[in-house]
Amino acid sequence: MAGRPALWLGPLLLLSLRGASAPASLLRRLGEHIQRVQESSGLSLTSGPGAGAFPNLPKQGWLEQPLDPFNASDRRSFLQRYWVNDQHWAGPRGPVFLHLGGEGSLGSGSVMRGHPAALAPAWGALVIGLEHRFYGLSMPAGGLEVAQLGFLSSRHALADVASARLALARLFNVSTASPWICFGGSYAGSLAAWARLKFPHLIFASVASSAPVRAVLDFSEYNEVVSRSLMSTAVGGSPEVVMHSLGQRCLSFSRAETVARLKVTDPQVSGVGDRQWLYQTCTEFGFYVTCEDPGCPFSRLPALPSQLELCEQVFGLSTSSVVQAVGQTNSYYGGQTPGATQVLFMNGDTDPWHVLSVTQALGPSEAALLIPGASHCMDMAPERPSDSPSLRLGRQSISQQLQIWLGLAKQSSVSRGG
Ligand SMILES: *[C@@H]1O[C@H](CO)[C@@H](O)[C@H](O)[C@H]1NC(C)=O
Ligand SMILES: *[C@@H]1O[C@H](CO)[C@@H](O)[C@H](O)[C@H]1NC(C)=O
Repeated sequence: MAGRPALWLGPLLLLSLRGASAPASLLRRLGEHIQRVQESSGLSLTSGPGAGAFPNLPKQGWLEQPLDPFNASDRRSFLQRYWVNDQHWAGPRGPVFLHLGGEGSLGSGSVMRGHPAALAPAWGALVIGLEHRFYGLSMPAGGLEVAQLGFLSSRHALADVASARLALARLFNVSTASPWICFGGSYAGSLAAWARLKFPHLIFASVASSAPVRAVLDFSEYNEVVSRSLMSTAVGGSPEVVMHSLGQRCLSFSRAETVARLKVTDPQVSGVGDRQWLYQTCTEFGFYVTCEDPGCPFSRLPALPSQLELCEQVFGLSTSSVVQAVGQTNSYYGGQTPGATQVLFMNGDTDPWHVLSVTQALGPSEAALLIPGASHCMDMAPERPSDSPSLRLGRQSISQQLQIWLGLAKQSSVSRGG
């Protein structure tokens, strides 16, 4: 178990310590961290052959989606990538597990390893992974120009989920009685919760892992969790050591280099989309990690105004527009009290992002579990012999929740005469 904290500590600390710490680097670091955890545990969401022992699996496909789902007279479209693993599928009446992509490319691993793929055999589920628009290969024509980025938001992504859900049901001849269950981690975890919230007639239930559902401009609580975790005995070793060794690498980019990099409008086909994600923080979420409290251990972090300046420098977005956008996001989705039903929120208490998620049940059908000692999205990784008992229990409760939901789905399809 000694190895576990080291896994998450490195990237998360880097994230907090980077002197040039652009908001964009925030989720990029996080994305890299998730990738590292997944790779180290055999789950790769990005690229790679992925199919392993199943050379015919998974299948990659493309859906034609409207660029502007909110304007019927705009006929432009783009191709959205998806992955399918049907090896466990019990047929048209079996459930569908829809794994949502977030702020990076989505690979075949999304339907092959870790959850939801690991949960599929027990219920005969069809597993589908859906890449997020503007990330990976799901890139509209025109790339990452500011005018195009107007079509990038969580609301657009959710509209894609709804139309993909309908199109894929037709394509795979999925019965109307089959429940569709969304899964996602981090930002995609929020999308999973919101897909159920906004489209309960299409999505039967959702498992939202490490989902920061509350948008926040100044995310100073991030460092509070990191320093608390640092002090915990589980880490073993003094914070100054840890910080010294990580601090070496933190000033690798100057501010000017960071801005120049973020202005590049050529899409990158793999990994985390820095420019796109910065755009989403400026227009929806904030999430700027700051450290202005005198007790904060990371004195080298830039202050909030300097982080907000990036929105202005890279996209010409004013601070007041960012402030307003963060408020609108919370009123649109409900922040930490979304009022969704049939959503399970999973979090780990050493993950700084849990403070923006739902960590206590909000009612009988909005369940939450906070796993002691678990880091970001750990519940999604494949099982390993070194997993802590609390992580095992956490995974078991996902299975139990699925059992309940799929039982409910069966009942409601029977009562509908399905
Ligand atoms: C909707 O699309 C049409 C056709 O592209 C365009 O002329 C119009 O300005 C758009 N409306 C809005 C509100 O964006
Ligand atoms: C679609 O599924 C139904 C059962 O739900 C089956 O009767 C039908 O033959 C299937 N059609 C195709 C084209 O596979």
